[in-house]
Amino acid sequence: MKVTLSVIKADIGGFVGHSSTHPEVVAKVKEVVEQEVEKGNLIDFDVLTCGDDIAIVMTHEHGVDSQLVHGIAWKAFEEGTKVAKELKLYGAGQDLLSDTFSGNVKGLGPGVAEMEFEERPSEPVIVFFADKTSPSAWNLPLYEMFADPMTTAGLVIDPKMHEGFTFEVLDVYTGKAVKLSTPAETYDLLALIGSVGKYVVKNVYRNYDGEIAASASTQRLSLIAGQYVGKDDPVLIVRAQSGFPAVGEILEPFAKPWIVEGWMRGSHNGPIMPVSFKDARPSRFDGPPRVIAAGYQLANGKLIGPADLFDDPAFDKARKVAQEMADILRRQGAFEPHRLPAEEMEYTSLPKVLKKLENRFYDVEQERPPEEGRIEKEDMD
Ligand code: F6R
Ligand code: MG
Ligand code: MG
Repeated sequence: MKVTLSVIKADIGGFVGHSSTHPEVVAKVKEVVEQEVEKGNLIDFDVLTCGDDIAIVMTHEHGVDSQLVHGIAWKAFEEGTKVAKELKLYGAGQDLLSDTFSGNVKGLGPGVAEMEFEERPSEPVIVFFADKTSPSAWNLPLYEMFADPMTTAGLVIDPKMHEGFTFEVLDVYTGKAVKLSTPAETYDLLALIGSVGKYVVKNVYRNYDGEIAASASTQRLSLIAGQYVGKDDPVLIVRAQSGFPAVGEILEPFAKPWIVEGWMRGSHNGPIMPVSFKDARPSRFDGPPRVIAAGYQLANGKLIGPADLFDDPAFDKARKVAQEMADILRRQGAFEPHRLPAEEMEYTSLPKVLKKLENRFYDVEQERPPEEGRIEKEDMD
C-alpha cells in the first residue's frame, strides 16, 4: 500500500509569549483534522507541539503536495488562530502569511515535510520537531545518521545501507538544490552543509534503490529565495529499520548536543536540547532550542503512537551538557559567537536599529565627527 505521511506545522500563537502553545488552540486544531478523518479524507492524524509551534501529522493516499491535505492543515490552523485571537495569545496567526489558501501551504508560512512510500511489512518512522531554530539544525544529525559509520553501524553492516545515501541540499539564498551521493561525495557534502546559514538538507534517499529515507521542512526558505526570510522552526521525518538506520542510530546524534542558530530572537547560537514532549517549553532566554522525537509504527496508514523517544534517562546527560553549553554561550551576552555573525543579523530587526547611526559615520583620516555646532572643514578654509 502506498501511503503519504505529511507533517505540516505552524506557530499560530504563543502561550506565554513565544514559549508554548495553549491547550484550547491545540484542541481546536485536533477537532478540525478529526472531522476530515471521519469524512474519509485522511487515514489518520496526530497533533504534536514543540514550544510555540503545532505540527499536524497526517497519513493519506493523496500523494505529496495534495491540495486537499494542505487545505485541511490550513483550515485547522485558521480555526486554531480564531481561538488564539480570542485568548489574545501572543503572535496569534503569526505563521499564516496569507488571508487565503491557494492550493498549497508552501510559501504561505507553515512548514511542510512529507513523503510517499510503499508501506513496508513494518514501517517505523520518527518525526522530529524543533523550536527556536531553523531547518539547517538538521544538517549535522542527518549527516551523522546517513553518512557517518561511527554513528550508524548499519552503513558498514547492512547490505541495503552499504551503498550509502544521497543528500538533496538546498541553497536557501538562490532556491537551487544539488544532489550529493555519499560516501563518494562526503567531503563535497560537508563543504556545503557545514555552512548552516546558507545550505540545508531537504531530502535523503537510499542509494540501493532510490527509496526516500528522510525529508525536512525547508519550503518557506526556498520559495522566498533571494529574500531569505529567516528562521522556521523545523520538522523532519525519518524512516527507520530494515535497510534504513535503526531507531537508536537515528537518535544517537542527539546524545551529543551541538550548536544551532535560533534561540532568542532567532539571532543567537545555542545548543539544541533533546527533550520529552512535556519539556518542550523553552523559557530560559526563550530557549535553549528544543527538539522532540515522536516515534510511530504505521499500520495500513494508521499512526500507532506516538512514542516519546527522548523521554529516556539515556538522554539526561545530553540535557545536562546542553545546559552547560548554554551557560558558556550566555556568558558572551551581546557578543559573537553567541550572537549570530553580522551577515545573518541582516535578516533580523537589528538593521532598523543600525540605520539610525548610518549618517553619523565619518572617515577618521579626513574629518572630525559631524557634531552640532562644530566648525566644518570647508568653513575654516
Ligand atoms: C525566537 C522567538 C523569540 C522572539 C522574542 C521576541 O524564535 O520566537 O525569541 O523573537 O521573544 O519576540 P517579539 O519580537 O515578538 O517581542
Ligand atoms: Mg512564536
Ligand atoms: Mg516557534
